[in-house]
Amino acid sequence: MQKSDLVGKLKPSPTLALNQKAKALQAAGKSVINLTAGEPDFPTPDRICKAAIEAISRRETRYTATSGIVELKDAILKTIEKKYGRKYGRQSVIVANGAKQALANLCLALLNPGDEAIIIAPYWVSYVDMVVAAGANPVVVKTSEEREFSPTADQIASAITKRTKLVFLNSPSNPTGGVYSEKLLRDLASIVKRHPDLVVVTDDIYDSFVFDGHPFFSIAHTDLPENQLVVINGVSKTYAMTGWRIGYAIAPADLIGNMDMIQSNSTSNASSISQWAAVEALNGDQSDVFEMRKVFEQRRNEALVLLQKIDGLTCFKPKGAFYFFPNLNAFIGKKSPSGKEIQNDLDLGAYLLEECGVATVPGSGFGAEGFTRLSFAASLRDLENGIERMKLGLSHLKH
Ligand SMILES: Cc1ncc(COP(=O)(O)O)c(C=O)c1O
Repeated sequence: MQKSDLVGKLKPSPTLALNQKAKALQAAGKSVINLTAGEPDFPTPDRICKAAIEAISRRETRYTATSGIVELKDAILKTIEKKYGRKYGRQSVIVANGAKQALANLCLALLNPGDEAIIIAPYWVSYVDMVVAAGANPVVVKTSEEREFSPTADQIASAITKRTKLVFLNSPSNPTGGVYSEKLLRDLASIVKRHPDLVVVTDDIYDSFVFDGHPFFSIAHTDLPENQLVVINGVSKTYAMTGWRIGYAIAPADLIGNMDMIQSNSTSNASSISQWAAVEALNGDQSDVFEMRKVFEQRRNEALVLLQKIDGLTCFKPKGAFYFFPNLNAFIGKKSPSGKEIQNDLDLGAYLLEECGVATVPGSGFGAEGFTRLSFAASLRDLENGIERMKLGLSHLKH
């Protein structure tokens, strides 16, 4: 079958690919510890499931407005006002089938061929492909482990050209767990304000998982004008609701209108039942969220000690989200016991999965060769065993 030019330009999501490979090996009877998950390992809280069951009983089972039910929009607007002190109207919010769709629609609604979008590496894999799908050019700004994967304000300033339309921010970050400082975000807001046509999209999907008692801080907390800001969030991570597919965007009303037009011609509304569940998620008692954050933080603390004991590996202490992003460059160029040369992080990921029984996601898919992502949205037992397998496997690699 023929394929479109666009398909030729896109890459399959490496996170999903590795997860599937790990599951296939497990199904074939192999012992594999899967540390690739990009989702909490907790069940969706009962209060939210009950709200969905009640919505079905009430037969809330028809199409809704493309942009979502009023009750959910109001719950989102209340959440946004409480979090950032920003007051928006209903015409500034759209509910989508996950934050992923909200981001994809944003790119399609805003970007033209030849436009540039700044993406900070290591990045969440989909940003690049979404920009490419919109015909625009991703401009990647690299960061380093030494600087805790944060860019400098100067790096961003010098990446801006006349063609730059959009800057992506994601803090806490997938894949690094890095959190940008308040100072950096205030400096970035000052830079962006000097370019009135530039828009910042802040993907705040991990905002509930910031550790060590620090408050969450986003560029949406600064004085960046409303017409230069898009906030993306959803219920997937905060409420362990990845399968329910509810995300949202907050943006200037005309941009939301254009995103609505795109969504109305592709998927229409997000599931009516999931929308009612999300109303409860946002409006109800938030103690389940605090509990989950506590567990993630405890796992981070315990598993990090084990990771940092691996000879040759360095690992930045994540300040948020639920990922470790260790540097494995010291092992590239070595040989496995079966004589296979480890030429890059993809070979290393395949070795760890196939010969050591631990699945991680190689860094090159995130724009960071030589690194790998390990999720701590896994039980402490799996983390301990997985890291032990990594330690043993890596110790068997020789020059
Ligand atoms: C940084 C980031 N943004 C957005 C998403 C998409 O979330 P969803 O579409 O489930 O709301 C993810 C999911 O992995 C993510 O890590």
